[in-house]
Amino acid sequence: MAEIFIRKMMENDLERVVMIEKESFSDPWSYDSFWSDLANEISMPIVALQDDIVIGYSILYIVADELQIGNFAVATQFRRQGVGNKLMDEIIKIAVQRGCNSIYLEVRESNKPAQALYLSFGFKDVGWRKGYYRSPRENAILMAKEL
Ligand SMILES: CC(C)(COP(=O)(O)OP(=O)(O)OC[C@H]1O[C@@H](n2cnc3c(N)ncnc32)[C@H](O)[C@@H]1OP(=O)(O)O)[C@@H](O)C(=O)NCCC(=O)NCCS
Repeated sequence: MAEIFIRKMMENDLERVVMIEKESFSDPWSYDSFWSDLANEISMPIVALQDDIVIGYSILYIVADELQIGNFAVATQFRRQGVGNKLMDEIIKIAVQRGCNSIYLEVRESNKPAQALYLSFGFKDVGWRKGYYRSPRENAILMAKEL
């Protein structure tokens, strides 16, 4: 597999990001919500590229000493090839560089692939948000990793 490169998300990436978002989630974020994150001071959107093509992304929010993962996805045809691992390696690097003490995220109760990835990075279940997701309505598991 060709090398995977990670950099900040740019406006030119959004068309491809929204395409991946739609194939990844039943309640996808809109183009506008990604767009507003490009200009949001507390957010750090990143993309994973292979041969200059966006194949994954994550939206991070850094508030005080906490990094929150707001969104995280890999294009269907590039899954199970280590792209998610590579994105998470980079997220942890960013959190350490920014002096964060912990990383938080929410995940659908039924989303076992994502939970397996997070568990493999040392995230632990720390809470539960009833009916947090729409389309379909589902509980969220709150996971955290201490740094
Ligand atoms: C979750 C997701 C980001 C993983 O991306 P990926 O590039 O396929 O992940 P990787 O290939 O780096 O795999 C990393 C680890 O995740 C776990 N994993 C990934 N896909 C899995 C699956 N289908 N079943 C079980 N475990 C899985 C495994 O632990 C895997 O390690 P391994 O390959 O050594 O077994 C991807 O499946 C995705 O985009 N899903 C849809 C969007 C989503 O659910 N995002 C998370 C929202 S909270």
